[in-house]
Amino acid sequence: MDLMILSLLWFFTLILLSSGDVSNNITINSLNTVVRDNALQALLHHRTGIVFKVPTPMNLSGIEVSGKRIRSKTLWRTGVDIGQVHVPSGAIAVPHVKRLIIVYQSLGNWSSTFFDIPGYTLEAPVVGFQAYDASNLSSKNITELGFNATDPITIRFILEGMKPELKCASFGLNRTVTLYKMVSPNVCYGKTPGYFGIVTPVLESRASTGRKWIVWLIVGGNAVVGMMMVGLVWLRVFRLARNKKMGIEDGEALGSVRVGNTNMPFAAMVRTQPVLETG
Ligand SMILES: *[C@@H]1O[C@H](CO)[C@@H](O)[C@H](O)[C@H]1NC(C)=O
Ligand SMILES: *[C@@H]1O[C@H](CO)[C@@H](O)[C@H](O)[C@H]1NC(C)=O
Ligand SMILES: *[C@@H]1O[C@H](CO)[C@@H](O)[C@H](O)[C@H]1NC(C)=O
Ligand SMILES: *[C@@H]1O[C@H](CO)[C@@H](O)[C@H](O)[C@H]1NC(C)=O
Ligand SMILES: *[C@@H]1O[C@H](CO)[C@@H](O)[C@H](O)[C@H]1NC(C)=O
Ligand SMILES: *[C@@H]1O[C@H](CO)[C@@H](O)[C@H](O)[C@H]1NC(C)=O
Ligand SMILES: *[C@@H]1O[C@H](CO)[C@@H](O)[C@H](O)[C@H]1NC(C)=O
Repeated sequence: MDLMILSLLWFFTLILLSSGDVSNNITINSLNTVVRDNALQALLHHRTGIVFKVPTPMNLSGIEVSGKRIRSKTLWRTGVDIGQVHVPSGAIAVPHVKRLIIVYQSLGNWSSTFFDIPGYTLEAPVVGFQAYDASNLSSKNITELGFNATDPITIRFILEGMKPELKCASFGLNRTVTLYKMVSPNVCYGKTPGYFGIVTPVLESRASTGRKWIVWLIVGGNAVVGMMMVGLVWLRVFRLARNKKMGIEDGEALGSVRVGNTNMPFAAMVRTQPVLETG
């Protein structure tokens, strides 16, 4: 799998999750913190290299969590398998640490509570994994890690039958979701830790006309905001790169040329906007 193609798929669609009406008022960020702290606690009783079960609080029962501490060298040499997630060899934790803990979650019946995408239905429980610095377990300052992987991370789902309308969804902590094409059956690819799921568009017959318009409005509005945010991020990345490379005085002249290049991902997004077709 070519990473270039992957990054294109990555920008397929970006929408913002509606805030939903979560009655228990727990956000995915606070879930993440609870899960992380429990995993670090459980880690004290387990050896490096062993997958162990992490207990979840009573009021979050149904969510399955496991953890594994590994050395960075092992991650790079052999990769790591935990739950439905496979990180291939050649991955490096960013920032670099000596040991890390991988925390894996399967959200089970809580999936749609945390990840409710207007216009789409989840087809399998959402799976998440995060990585944290585990070099110093007595440190109160826990660093969340990203991965720099040469080959994509795979997340394998258990599904019955392959439907052409299945899409992979990757969920960001700031309630953004990126939808992209599923290129191999029941498998989604990722570049970094995060939450992943499989969705299908809601069938038209199921939504009443009135409701449909509202969904259209919400999804459309969110898509526009999402695109603007991606635009802003790209603009910022571009500016940073430009300032680094050119310094201030040459910057202006080159600007218009370079902006042309950064347009590509937006164009891909506008062309393939499944959200608006299916509402
Ligand atoms: C949810 O929690 C936040 C603080 O974490 C609070 O400001 C907000 O009012 C709460 N919302 C509800 C509906 O309880
Ligand atoms: C779950 O229980 C813990 C105490 O065990 C409490 O601090 C937390 O707020 C509860 N969370 C929810 C979502 O009810
Ligand atoms: C999920 O199932 C468990 C029991 O297995 C239950 O306690 C919990 O309330 C359920 N969660 C939701 C969001 O329905
Ligand atoms: C680990 O963290 C504790 C608490 O922050 C600190 O006192 C200690 O010096 C750290 N150890 C190392 C090896 O960095
Ligand atoms: C926590 O660790 C990060 C990265 O090592 C560092 O940049 C940050 O200053 C630390 N924060 C505190 C409060 O020690
Ligand atoms: C990721 O790895 C590539 C090659 O292995 C390297 O060129 C790049 O600088 C790395 N990026 C980060 C953020 O470490
Ligand atoms: C999500 O939030 C982080 C900071 O919390 C930000 O850097 C990133 O650009 C945001 N992503 C989107 C798509 O808004």
